[in-house]
Amino acid sequence: MAKPHFQALRGTRDVLSPESERQRELVAVFAEQCRRAGYGQIVSPIFEDLGVFLRVGESTEIVTKEMYEFEDRDGRRIALRPELTASVVRAFLQHNPTVPWKAWYEGPQFRHERPQAGRYRQFSQVGVEVLGTDDPHVDVEVIALGWRFYEALGLRDVTLLINTLGDGDSRQRYLGALAAHLEEHRGDLSDASRETLERNPMRVLDSKRPEDAPIVAGAPVMADFLSEADAEHFDVVRRGLERLGIGHEITPRLVRGLDYYTRTTFEYASAALDTAQNALGGGGRYDGLAESLGGKPTPGIGLALGVERTLLACDAESVFPAPSLAPDVFVIDLTGGDEGTDLSDDLRQAGLAADRAFDGRSLKAQMKLADRSGAAFAAIVGEDELAAGTVTVRDLRGDSGQTAVDRADIVSEIRKRSARS
Ligand code: HAM
Repeated sequence: MAKPHFQALRGTRDVLSPESERQRELVAVFAEQCRRAGYGQIVSPIFEDLGVFLRVGESTEIVTKEMYEFEDRDGRRIALRPELTASVVRAFLQHNPTVPWKAWYEGPQFRHERPQAGRYRQFSQVGVEVLGTDDPHVDVEVIALGWRFYEALGLRDVTLLINTLGDGDSRQRYLGALAAHLEEHRGDLSDASRETLERNPMRVLDSKRPEDAPIVAGAPVMADFLSEADAEHFDVVRRGLERLGIGHEITPRLVRGLDYYTRTTFEYASAALDTAQNALGGGGRYDGLAESLGGKPTPGIGLALGVERTLLACDAESVFPAPSLAPDVFVIDLTGGDEGTDLSDDLRQAGLAADRAFDGRSLKAQMKLADRSGAAFAAIVGEDELAAGTVTVRDLRGDSGQTAVDRADIVSEIRKRSARS
């Protein structure tokens, strides 16, 4: 077949049925977890003033190298959102809702990354943000929400990694020690990490380059520099997770790819996926972000989970299959098409899923379509039925044969049979 003129751009995908229905169901499972925990949905714009995302961090590749930014027709600098946390904080500052403000979201994000399995340029996230409290029990609530979501999908091979990055004083003292260590080994660091070191030494810990590995392994760890308050915060988070029976690994070098994090950070990793792309989702505290966006200091914490990666993990674990799209009934009209139109509409209005054939096909061709649709029953109207005011209902799955039903009773007949099958 000749290649069509246009294809979806590199790193973008068309999601066709039934995978698209599966994605929607995944969002529904997440939405239900959020509803139970008292989160309301926020739907914010897909593009924002570039400045909103610049605050996410100057040493964050997502911002410096991967952002889709452009000038619109009014000469304004715009970015397609690479993530939603900054947008949600912007919305919080704009609308000033009562705190704690608990919001959930879903939707596409855009990052100009090198595409590979589980990494796209347009991908979807589900997530939550809580603004206005630094109570560590909120950290537990947010982390548990992500965990229960994976459980609800049926995933078992998920590991929770947590860390604390400290705040204020502890952060400053740690950064001093870390920078000194990295400076000492500057000559052996990769070029990229030397550059990162200038802007944010902590992000060097995130390097996956082999030449950096021994230097990162020997780096001082935050835990040794925590202030009493930060240590107590982390303790409450850990104890809370333990109370809920949520196992976790403390990962001192988990710094995550965004600059705004303070205190608690966490990631959910799937053992069922390739290590390069095994982060199903993650999040953390960002107690300084509201202020850096020009608002009054407001603590915040949230998480975002990658929809595509989560579904890849579901594939790998053979859980959460795509939902069945089989209609309840397939309507077969051998009298020209009008009966099929009326009958399908009656059934659909009654809340039943009814599909049908077009193009005046033969009985054999229509029966084939009915079988392929996966419908449990066929409702057949031929000339005889039309004359007698009946519809023939045929069982397509079992062997209960076929019966003629009064046209007026067809809806209740299909309902009755569907309930039984
Ligand atoms: P993030 O770690 O950049 O965090 O993204 C969260 C998740 O989105 C990742 O773990 C991954 O599953 C998915 N993801 C990221 N990039 C891609 C990609 N190119 N293709 C496919 N999936 C991807 C954030 O976005 C933060 N806003 C999370 C957060 C919320 N922190 C606080 N609140």
